[in-house]
Amino acid sequence: MATAHHSRGAIVFCSGVVAALLVLPPFGAAATAAGAGLDSNCTRSCGNISIPYPFGIELGCYHASGFNLTCRKNSRRHGPPELFLGDGTVQVLEISVVPNGTVRIRSHRVEITDDGGSTAIGTWGAGLPRGGPLFLSEETSNVAVVGCDVQVEVRGGAHDDLIGSCTALCPPSPAHRGNIIVGFRSGACTGIGCCQSPITIGYSFYNVQIHMFNRSSGAEYPIYIADGGFNDTDDMFQQIHQVGAKLDWIINNSTCPTNTSAPECRSAHSYCQNSVANGHGGYLCQCSDGYRGNPYVTGGCKGSIQPIVVLSIAVKTKLCK
Ligand SMILES: *[C@@H]1O[C@H](CO)[C@@H](O)[C@H](O)[C@H]1NC(C)=O
Ligand SMILES: *[C@@H]1O[C@H](CO)[C@@H](O)[C@H](O)[C@H]1NC(C)=O
Ligand SMILES: *[C@@H]1O[C@H](CO)[C@@H](O)[C@H](O)[C@H]1NC(C)=O
Ligand SMILES: *[C@@H]1O[C@H](CO)[C@@H](O)[C@H](O)[C@H]1NC(C)=O
Ligand SMILES: *[C@@H]1O[C@H](CO)[C@@H](O)[C@H](O)[C@H]1NC(C)=O
Ligand SMILES: *[C@@H]1O[C@H](CO)[C@@H](O)[C@H](O)[C@H]1NC(C)=O
Ligand SMILES: *[C@@H]1O[C@H](CO)[C@@H](O)[C@H](O)[C@H]1NC(C)=O
Ligand SMILES: *[C@@H]1O[C@H](CO)[C@@H](O)[C@H](O)[C@H]1NC(C)=O
Ligand SMILES: *[C@@H]1O[C@H](CO)[C@@H](O)[C@H](O)[C@H]1NC(C)=O
Repeated sequence: MATAHHSRGAIVFCSGVVAALLVLPPFGAAATAAGAGLDSNCTRSCGNISIPYPFGIELGCYHASGFNLTCRKNSRRHGPPELFLGDGTVQVLEISVVPNGTVRIRSHRVEITDDGGSTAIGTWGAGLPRGGPLFLSEETSNVAVVGCDVQVEVRGGAHDDLIGSCTALCPPSPAHRGNIIVGFRSGACTGIGCCQSPITIGYSFYNVQIHMFNRSSGAEYPIYIADGGFNDTDDMFQQIHQVGAKLDWIINNSTCPTNTSAPECRSAHSYCQNSVANGHGGYLCQCSDGYRGNPYVTGGCKGSIQPIVVLSIAVKTKLCK
């Protein structure tokens, strides 16, 4: 008898706790409301790509010029819509807000103006606003060229300084020259038939020059600026026209204000952090230790442990035993 009463009581009590749990709002749920560019009419995704503030599509939904995006119907008939930076030429593949502000883009093959001489020139960065706020990432970027007897140089900055250079040679034997895949297979893009070099200073625009030591070695020298190392050289051989590149962005081109947080770091539990990149100054916002989310929006940084829910679960477990 007593046992039956006891268990019935326990059941009632436990479901009471569960009900109480359900009405508790998740910690920090108010986050989506206030703050610049956060009214409910802002588009926050395009296809499967999410668009966190400071980026946005509609006027009033992004932080400043350079953070404005365009979502367009796919050029292929049934593909998902595609996202582009402001003026619509550079396609966006992914946007990341913390810890490093990055945007992954499609990077087109460097277009070279070749007049048949031994040197040809091209540029990279069409469609990126010159001066920022987006710059090629200094962490993972490479320039690569496919060909024989060719050197590529990448220059950038106010003084057009040399930033990256590599040379691709090929075995002298004509039999091998005709089949430079031999060099590729052995070690990917290592200087035989293809070379690559890191680009260690991030700018939004580069001048590219190629020097051809033996024009009869090849008619075309595809040049790419991309993130990561080139390994998929078969693809390069098939003359792919675009690869991925990573850009870093900064929210403001000054340094963090002293003794106060930056106005752009709107969330509580956020702070300002100077950008470490040396091609450009500027700062970013971060969530404080123990918090995660978007520091650029009010209430964006949320405690990764939600104390109320944890406590409720603990209470429930204990009482329901
Ligand atoms: C959203 O857009 C609708 C119609 O365009 C407008 O009536 C409404 O006020 C907007 N809401 C906000 C929060 O701006
Ligand atoms: C979006 O979808 C495409 C293809 O379906 C996939 O390759 C890509 O990784 C996805 N991007 C993101 C950010 O999930
Ligand atoms: C959108 O971004 C582009 C650069 O990507 C810039 O030239 C243009 O002024 C921006 N437009 C607005 C309305 O901010
Ligand atoms: C962020 O940048 C730092 C410094 O450049 C790097 O060490 C770290 O791996 C990056 N984190 C991510 C998630 O990319
Ligand atoms: C230039 O390339 C051609 C064709 O691959 C080759 O036959 C010739 O030996 C090369 N010349 C030099 C100087 O390497
Ligand atoms: C390139 O491919 C080789 C063999 O498949 C692999 O061992 C190596 O880690 C790859 N390198 C990069 C940078 O992906
Ligand atoms: C950059 O930050 C400084 C200092 O916080 C501020 O005065 C300035 O208005 C900001 N500039 C832009 C373009 O947001
Ligand atoms: C910083 O941003 C301001 C406002 O956008 C711009 O006028 C200025 O030229 C920028 N400074 C540098 C060094 O890029
Ligand atoms: C920043 O704080 C330090 C110590 O609290 C103080 O000495 C300094 O004057 C402050 N600087 C500014 C610009 O307010």
